[in-house]
Amino acid sequence: MVFKHDVLIVGAGLAGLRAATEVAGKADVALISKVYPTRSHSGAAQGGIAAALGNEEPDSEEWHTYDTVKGGDYLTDQNAAEILAKDAIRAVYELEHMGVPFNRTPEGKIAQRCFGGHTSNFGQAPVKRICYAADRSGRVIMDTLYFEAVKKGIKIYPEFHVLDLVFRDGQVAGLVAYELATGEVHFFHGRVVLLATGGYGKVYKVTSNAFANTGDGPALVYRQGLPLEDMEFVQFHPTGIYGLGVLITEAARGEGGVLRNTDGERFMERYAPTIKDLAPRDMVSRAIYTEIAAGRGIKGSDYVHLDLTHLGEKKLAERLSDISSFVKIYLGLDPAKDLIPVHPTCHYMMGGIPVNTEGNVTDEKNGIVPGLYAAGECSCISLHGANRLGCNSLLDLVVFGRRAGKNILENLDRLAWTAPPAFPERDSLERIRQLRENKKGERQVVIRRQLQKVMMDGCSVFREEKGLKKVVEALGELEKRANAISIDNKSNRYNTDLIDGLELLNMLPLAEAIAASALNRTESRGAHSREDYPQRDDEHWLKHTLIRRTGQGVSIGEKPVTITRFEPKPRTY
Ligand code: FUM
Repeated sequence: MVFKHDVLIVGAGLAGLRAATEVAGKADVALISKVYPTRSHSGAAQGGIAAALGNEEPDSEEWHTYDTVKGGDYLTDQNAAEILAKDAIRAVYELEHMGVPFNRTPEGKIAQRCFGGHTSNFGQAPVKRICYAADRSGRVIMDTLYFEAVKKGIKIYPEFHVLDLVFRDGQVAGLVAYELATGEVHFFHGRVVLLATGGYGKVYKVTSNAFANTGDGPALVYRQGLPLEDMEFVQFHPTGIYGLGVLITEAARGEGGVLRNTDGERFMERYAPTIKDLAPRDMVSRAIYTEIAAGRGIKGSDYVHLDLTHLGEKKLAERLSDISSFVKIYLGLDPAKDLIPVHPTCHYMMGGIPVNTEGNVTDEKNGIVPGLYAAGECSCISLHGANRLGCNSLLDLVVFGRRAGKNILENLDRLAWTAPPAFPERDSLERIRQLRENKKGERQVVIRRQLQKVMMDGCSVFREEKGLKKVVEALGELEKRANAISIDNKSNRYNTDLIDGLELLNMLPLAEAIAASALNRTESRGAHSREDYPQRDDEHWLKHTLIRRTGQGVSIGEKPVTITRFEPKPRTY
């Protein structure tokens, strides 16, 4: 079938929803989502949304901007950080007025708590900047925005997996999507496509990400020969449940929890003497790995403890109830009495589809791709630089989702309908045909698991040249094998075997982009920690990486960092 809408938004998490609700009523907009919209991964966000409201103690937009830039190890484009911090306050009150049930102070204001890297007075002490709804902040914000989308009558295509973008003469003409319920492949004709497909933590073995987070949006763009930006910067959240990767929110430390090694020592005091357990995630994750490497993991093992026992049952029930139940369900432990085994878990991608602050997809020279937009984790503004601060993500989604929506509306009249090519579904159908008809190929899950292990072993918190070269080589081999996989399930209804195969073909090139960009950057900055190049090197590397796929492998370019007022300084906490 052919569907036709002015604006096609792919992904129904917070970025997609916020963009769609901005456009709705003024242009014909459709939301296309691989999962049922309310299952989008934004709903898994626990800790909260940052905004310098100053409800609990003095705070300022300027401190928030500074923290975002310093947290990003000075790779952050500072114009984007300024927009984020300034618009945060409006954005949070907008959510409140839509009905988001934030926790309250005794006087009835939105309550706020501490989080890693958010400080007062340019790094002097942790500050209460995070607005939250217990530890299910993403869930309540997403439900509220979804309700707005339904109220505005936005056309939603649930459980449609986008297979390809369609261009004509360099301009977007639409996209091709696979309908999970029927197995049919459809062409969506549109003037604008906005990608808001989220992250791709599933390229790692241990991750807090949902099954759906396979990087479909960036893969669609990369397949078109367009660049991806800063792919080497992958965030590992320090506190995943050991062995599972399930997130234990940083709010647990924001509320007073501490990390301990096998000696019971609060080791973050040594790594970040000023803000300790509330240092940014890259530092805390490295500290955990360092403790483990020094034999101070619990009983010589590869995890440390998160200690919440002193918080008391009341606080745990009021503010950390979801994670308390995760700990009980998955580990059989009671956080009010027991120490929780934790290990870093792949959580967030700072890199992605290059965009400007209005959501236009851009290239190395900041030229825009007509009609193509991106927002949220699949994009790279670059707002989070080399390491994102906790709770700047939900904020990014609503601030920059809205900006993209506004920009689309402002420019829609200038974007004519582009006639699609004669058979826009051809490449997508061919990929599906191959998957279905291959008889003797391997099963996708075998290759998927190897991909996840290769990335975990050679391209996680610490990296070095030899290991990265091995990763790149192994991924090349895996991709060859993946091109010949076969699937057991040949049915048309909810064929998850087929979808898993298609996702694998998206994940492999992205993994290669991460590893090749990491190999290229011979310094350590933020979440990219090269054991063979342990120092940050501003002279040579204060720049963004742009990677493209060519017929001859990958080619790597660069783009300058925008610095408005915070010159790079050594990063201590
Ligand atoms: O720890 C957390 O609750 C995660 C928050 C975030 O990634 O922004």
